[in-house]
Amino acid sequence: MGRQAIVFTKSLGEMAKALNSDLTPAEKLDLLVRTASRALGVRGCSLMLLDARRKKLIRAATHGLSERYLRAGVLEADKSLPEIMEGKTAVVTDVATDPRIQFGEIARREHIASIIGVPVTYRGEVVGSLRAYNRIRREFTAAEEEFLIAVANLAATVLEASGALHLAERPAGARAKNTLAKPGLRSPVRAVTFAHPSEEDFARLLDFYQIEWVYEPRSFMLQWEGDKVTEMFTPDFYLPGLDLYIEMTTLKPGLTSEKNRKIRRLRELYPDIKIKLLARRDYDRLLAKYGHGPLAGAKTEGVGRILFSADQIQMRVRQLAKEISRDYEGRRILLVGVLRGMLCFMADLMRYLEVPADVDFMAISYYGSGDGGEAVRITKDLDVSPRGRHVVLVEDIVDTGMTLSFVLAHLQSRHPASLAVCTLLDKRVRRLTEVPLAYVGFEVPDEFLVGYGLDYREEYRNLPFIALVKQEVGKLDVDG
Ligand code: IMP
Ligand code: MG
Repeated sequence: MGRQAIVFTKSLGEMAKALNSDLTPAEKLDLLVRTASRALGVRGCSLMLLDARRKKLIRAATHGLSERYLRAGVLEADKSLPEIMEGKTAVVTDVATDPRIQFGEIARREHIASIIGVPVTYRGEVVGSLRAYNRIRREFTAAEEEFLIAVANLAATVLEASGALHLAERPAGARAKNTLAKPGLRSPVRAVTFAHPSEEDFARLLDFYQIEWVYEPRSFMLQWEGDKVTEMFTPDFYLPGLDLYIEMTTLKPGLTSEKNRKIRRLRELYPDIKIKLLARRDYDRLLAKYGHGPLAGAKTEGVGRILFSADQIQMRVRQLAKEISRDYEGRRILLVGVLRGMLCFMADLMRYLEVPADVDFMAISYYGSGDGGEAVRITKDLDVSPRGRHVVLVEDIVDTGMTLSFVLAHLQSRHPASLAVCTLLDKRVRRLTEVPLAYVGFEVPDEFLVGYGLDYREEYRNLPFIALVKQEVGKLDVDG
């Protein structure tokens, strides 16, 4: 036997042994891709599963790939090496020139020069793909292909035992409306059927902010006896750009504790998985902000408790201006405000600054603002070019972070010399998208706030203090 044949045989032996052990399924899959990478002498390997709609590839295990590569985005099954979906092996000998590569530029930067991908099949149907990434341009041998197919078969065994291939088999009653494609059935592309209207609303909101999502991406095993899975969990959403799973709870309080238990278990078993629980109530409030959902019609009954008095605000704004003046000493800054909530804050802040500051404004469309448009867009751009400038973006409040991350990406693309964010209020607990905040006035609770520029449907903006709004009893039941 040649040296490579010995390595392959030994590796397959190790893998078979691991499959027979008490490792968790996730650990088994990790071991498979790691051992395969070593045996093939490649940079890395990834095992990807088709999502329930057979459109996207969700990674189930990877080895040797950088965060940057993994976050490049979701691979579309029909764009990225599509022949794999027909059960064929795909070989890319030169990533630089091959059109079948979805994120070619990133692959090149990662020094991935060639790729071999084989289908992962279960009962004769393609359920995913196993790929090996090489640093150098080259062909792959028949032995290497055969080896990778053997590993893919082992992976399919783990996946099958874990229940990950049985997305369609759910407890009776649960997700009854969901017509998930059984991975075992080749089916035409289906439209997503959401189990709950609030999930669909949420997907639209994500679409608006151009945040990529996958619905019910994969299942995690929570409990098993031997090879029999006794408990599974399928989060509602996966946001690949944020590498974040989201579970929306629309259940009654009694059932919420059961779900919390599952999420705790998920976190124990899969410590690398980031998952966020979005409770129905929180979610309804999130949508109400944009005038959608069941709470959209909630009437206000004036302002409630005052969180920050006019004096407290002035004191804090003066401190922030001091910090900024110190950090930017000797430089001229460009203050950028996103209309309109920041107007009081910006006006006060600029008067306390001790460094020269220009000001400019932009405006963006809001979700549900009714001016058409499927996605967030800039309705008023800067008049001053930010190129080469020290830009300080001034915000009233950062909530989910979706607005800010969009604005920051836009500003960054215009090559400022530096870019920092100064926000008066930080509603941390509601953050979905992490955004770097250099200056924060106050951290605030998850309540709807008005005054000092902040409005509730254009009301209360001109109050000199920041307060909670009193809502109709039983609706938002914000404290009064
Ligand atoms: P984000 O995209 O969810 O971070 O939303 C940020 C924007 O939502 C802010 O710039 C505000 O215009 C608005 N917003 C968020 N929370 C509040 C609030 O409590 N009162 C008023 N406006 C808010
Ligand atoms: Mg704003």
